[in-house]
Amino acid sequence: MALDIFRDELAATASSLARAGSGLLAADESTGTIGKRFASIGVENSESHRCAYRSLLASSEGLSEAISGVILYEETLFQHSVDAAGRPGPPIVELFQAQGIVPGIKLDQGVEPLPGGLPGESWCTGLKGLLERAARAHAHGARFAKWRAVLTISSGGAPSELAVRENAWGLARYARTVQEVGLVPIVEPEILMDGDHDIETTAAVQEWVLRSVYAALGLHGVFLEGTLLKPSLTLPGRACPQAPSPEQAAAYTLRTLERTVPSAVPAVLFLSGGLSEEEASLYLNAINQAAPSAPWHLGFSFGRALQHSCLKHWSGRDRAAGQAALLARARANGQAARGAYVPGSEPSDDAPLFEANYRY
Ligand code: 13P
Repeated sequence: MALDIFRDELAATASSLARAGSGLLAADESTGTIGKRFASIGVENSESHRCAYRSLLASSEGLSEAISGVILYEETLFQHSVDAAGRPGPPIVELFQAQGIVPGIKLDQGVEPLPGGLPGESWCTGLKGLLERAARAHAHGARFAKWRAVLTISSGGAPSELAVRENAWGLARYARTVQEVGLVPIVEPEILMDGDHDIETTAAVQEWVLRSVYAALGLHGVFLEGTLLKPSLTLPGRACPQAPSPEQAAAYTLRTLERTVPSAVPAVLFLSGGLSEEEASLYLNAINQAAPSAPWHLGFSFGRALQHSCLKHWSGRDRAAGQAALLARARANGQAARGAYVPGSEPSDDAPLFEANYRY
């Protein structure tokens, strides 16, 4: 089996991404999603602007102190950088690699409505041709991959058993497939924060989802030491009147993980899911303070919560200001991954980043 020749490499990659005090920069917004971000700062969604922005990320000096890996959208994996003056430079991937940041690739092709599911439920597309796309990404320097499955909680009964099983199965099939060509799969069963359900409801659903995911990974023979989990935090729905403190959220999140995630998995890298920049850091910090000897590295794989200030300060013009903002949030989250973040000690923008029914 091809997977067997990659076991050592997969385990080594996964543990380098699980480095203490670090996490991932999720910069894999699809062209549509980055367009929404650019619209909010008045920047046109052109190939050259996307290249300029992602070159900014890749050339942020010192980023590797808190960032072990970066998730890229396919376009970026094959794109050459530009410098601050717009002159062509090396491939963007090489800029990250030169800093010791491991490149990864988003391989799912987005979610679609789930036939037979409840309103709002989805399945994740991208299995057809996946092996070839994964091999091509590996040949271009990617060493890990991401696949985002999305589940919702609703008063109408979601998630349905169909949605839970379908998404667990898709994640497992993807994970096994990319391991066959040497990519570490990030397994991402995101539970959206849309809704007014309480934290107990989220915890029960998330336990069900994670148990189903690990059962499916087992059935597919996925090598757990060469995987990473990217879950949402165990939090109530955004419209729930009771908001937990970071300590309460940390206790629930850890309980969920302890009940469901095998200790062979090297790292749990949370998504930010619409939390503000500072909120995301505070939750991660509380989790690490509550679990100094958890079996997994407890880090981050943030998109919005790492890039929001950066985009705003850049605004299509000021690369240095964008980089300073990015480095500030990277430092904050690097500290939080050690449980050592001092609240408010790094600048942030407290804009709410939550979007209903979020797509990536
Ligand atoms: P957010 O941190 O913005 O939720 O995004 C992370 C991600 O990669 C979602 O798939």
